Amino acid sequence: MALENGELSKELLDSQAHIWNHIFSLINSMSLKCAVELQIPDIIHRHGSPMLLSELVKALGLKDERTHFVYRLMRILVHSGFFVKQSVGNDEDEEEGYLLAPVSRLLIKDEPLNVRPYLLAVLDPMLLDTWQHMSEWFQNDDVTPFYTTHGRMFWDLASHEPKLNEFFNEAMASDARLVISVILKHCRGVFEGLDSIVDVGGGTGTIARAIVEGFPDIRCICFDLPHVINGLVGSKNVSYAGGDMFQTIPTAHAVLLKWILHDWNDEECMKILKKCKEAIPSKENGGKLIIIDMVVKAREGENKVLETQLFFDMHLMTLMTGRERSEDDWAKLFIDVGFSDYKITPILGLRSLIEVYP
Ligand SMILES: C[S@@+](CC[C@H](N)C(=O)[O-])C[C@H]1O[C@@H](n2cnc3c(N)ncnc32)[C@H](O)[C@@H]1O
Repeated sequence: MALENGELSKELLDSQAHIWNHIFSLINSMSLKCAVELQIPDIIHRHGSPMLLSELVKALGLKDERTHFVYRLMRILVHSGFFVKQSVGNDEDEEEGYLLAPVSRLLIKDEPLNVRPYLLAVLDPMLLDTWQHMSEWFQNDDVTPFYTTHGRMFWDLASHEPKLNEFFNEAMASDARLVISVILKHCRGVFEGLDSIVDVGGGTGTIARAIVEGFPDIRCICFDLPHVINGLVGSKNVSYAGGDMFQTIPTAHAVLLKWILHDWNDEECMKILKKCKEAIPSKENGGKLIIIDMVVKAREGENKVLETQLFFDMHLMTLMTGRERSEDDWAKLFIDVGFSDYKITPILGLRSLIEVYP
């Protein structure tokens, strides 16, 4: 009888608390989204010193009656590490004001490497609704929960829904800005000696433009679906090509695949990788693939890293046919397509840079 035994009651209540914590985990995401939509990080950043609750409510243009609700929103965001509280005023008249925690710099519009577009895209109802259909999808024959929810595959819907196309491309561009800035700072060697690169699924060309800026002698082709690159104009060393990577890929010295292969299952990846192999010269002539993706690995003491990688894997399961892969999964793919060797450089936080040689 669980409730009559002290030990068992504790276990029962701990279980309930654990489940509650999981039920309400989405409040972390949604509170953050709310703050970003209200531009709270921008307002506090512009304020430049600890911002009192009353000042924040005023700057938000909200009625005084909302003050207590803003306090409660801020309380959970302080708890989850996005803001910090600091005392202001003197001993007699001391109050606490809000400051940005260091991570929240990436939530400010003026920060060129901000992750706002990515956050708003992933938490958009169009993507979130897929979770409401997950169990239904397990029991039907649809390819993805996204298909069960919207009746179309992701890229197909993006080509028909300008809103989805726009916010998704902007989300990808924001991530691309951050990633390429790290690569150009810490891993320039990966591009040295190349005279041309085709960025397959290169979105609106953020990476292509940044590579050419860092390496003016490299020509870059941004290759993506026609609806993504429509209307984009190239420059001296950046050109755009529309097409389907399952059909043919423009030839170049190297192929870049950033956040492409995790969108696809192994069979589809093999088709893409075969097309990539046809597009580059031999290893002796400097041909290679440059892949930016996760290599899932359980690292001692890095539970949060693994959890975030598993979150990504589930996120992909709702939207696409792909998955996040371990090193063994990657190695098998490369061998099956006939590549001779690969090198993993884990310099991108949760993701790695993988060079693959023909
Ligand atoms: C997850 S996004 C990655 C975008 C970009 N590489 C980045 O990381 O910023 C995947 C990209 O693949 C493109 N894509 C999807 N199917 C494609 C296809 N069959 N041929 C070419 N590009 C495709 C999408 O339009 C999208 O831009």
